[in-house]
Amino acid sequence: MTWKVIQWTTGHVGREAVKAIVAHPELELVGAYAWSPEKEGQDVGELCGIGPLGLTATNDVEALFALGADCVSYTPNHPDVDEICRILEAGLNVAASNVTNFRTVGDTARARVETAAVAGGVSVFGSGIFPGFANYIAAQMATVSQGFQRVRFLEAVDVSSYNAIHNYANLGWGQPPEPKWEQASREVLGFYDECLDVMADMLRVPIADRRFTCEWAITPEDREYFGFAMPAGTIAGQKSTWQAFAAGQDESVLELDVCWVAGPGLDPEWPIHHGYSMEVEGNPNVQTRVRFRPQKQGRLADYLDMSNTITSMPVVAAIPTVCAASPGIRTYADLPLITGYYSPRD
Ligand SMILES: NC(=O)c1ccc[n+]([C@@H]2O[C@H](COP(=O)([O-])OP(=O)(O)OC[C@H]3O[C@@H](n4cnc5c(N)ncnc54)[C@H](OP(=O)(O)O)[C@@H]3O)[C@@H](O)[C@H]2O)c1
Repeated sequence: MTWKVIQWTTGHVGREAVKAIVAHPELELVGAYAWSPEKEGQDVGELCGIGPLGLTATNDVEALFALGADCVSYTPNHPDVDEICRILEAGLNVAASNVTNFRTVGDTARARVETAAVAGGVSVFGSGIFPGFANYIAAQMATVSQGFQRVRFLEAVDVSSYNAIHNYANLGWGQPPEPKWEQASREVLGFYDECLDVMADMLRVPIADRRFTCEWAITPEDREYFGFAMPAGTIAGQKSTWQAFAAGQDESVLELDVCWVAGPGLDPEWPIHHGYSMEVEGNPNVQTRVRFRPQKQGRLADYLDMSNTITSMPVVAAIPTVCAASPGIRTYADLPLITGYYSPRD
């Protein structure tokens, strides 16, 4: 069976999603949405650096809906609930890089998304590397313990080689530290908080309480990466922690620690191991480390694309499963196994 897919924007993650959809044996790219006026009418393959595909990007949403597609691969720079509802009501499934279960957008908005999905007879699912694949793997690790007390997960990354580093501007990076940026992180990164729900659902942990904390690292001198400036004295790193507690427990059961820095020499200077450390406390304790290396090493572009590849792949890989799922908001806790696909060596 082949599922027809529309790519919604062709930014950093979207470009990699297009490559993945075109290469996927069960998917067919049938259209692409352009938010940027200058992309309108351009060949989607050319926009994504893979040569012409004979499909043009368009901002004509009704024309896209008329293509008879099964699913939208949704990767704009922020999720728009109205837009997602419109896609779902049009009868298209949504696999997204920027949503989890919509809890933190509020009950009303979440109910609208659920209603739109049911009305359209389709489902909406979010993944990526994290939120998404990495916290799913961390939860799966608890399977081998005879009872577990905690699943803890640490992402520690130097984002100075991340070509979408400008996305941290809405967390206050490049600005002096102020309490308002903690609230901004709480809101903007809400779909990270929702990962606790997915892990709790997967592991049947009753969450009684949650906590979010945030610390900043400050740059002592002016620095700039990919045109994004962080003057001396401003935020250039962030450690965010989301914790879930069971009733009557002082220690968290689920904990997500996320440490991002824009280069070395920040104050404070946190250790960065580039990747994911995952730990299950139980009988036995389980530890793993997930790291990534480009297939073709040596080219800077391959390193730059890699973070977008590992974000887009869990989304694209999920499309057949999302299309086959029962209508509504779906997460890893209620979908069957999602995997990559075999590709013979050249
Ligand atoms: N789950 C994960 O692991 C993970 C990891 C990284 C990123 N993400 C999320 O994935 C999403 C895409 O990230 P990205 O780095 O690809 O983003 P991006 O390149 O900065 O932006 C993606 C596209 O969004 C469109 N866009 C820009 N400004 C817009 C606006 N004001 N309103 C509506 N659309 C706008 C543009 O569409 P055009 O293509 O038409 O120009 C742009 O190319 C983000 O929400 C990000 O938070 C998730």
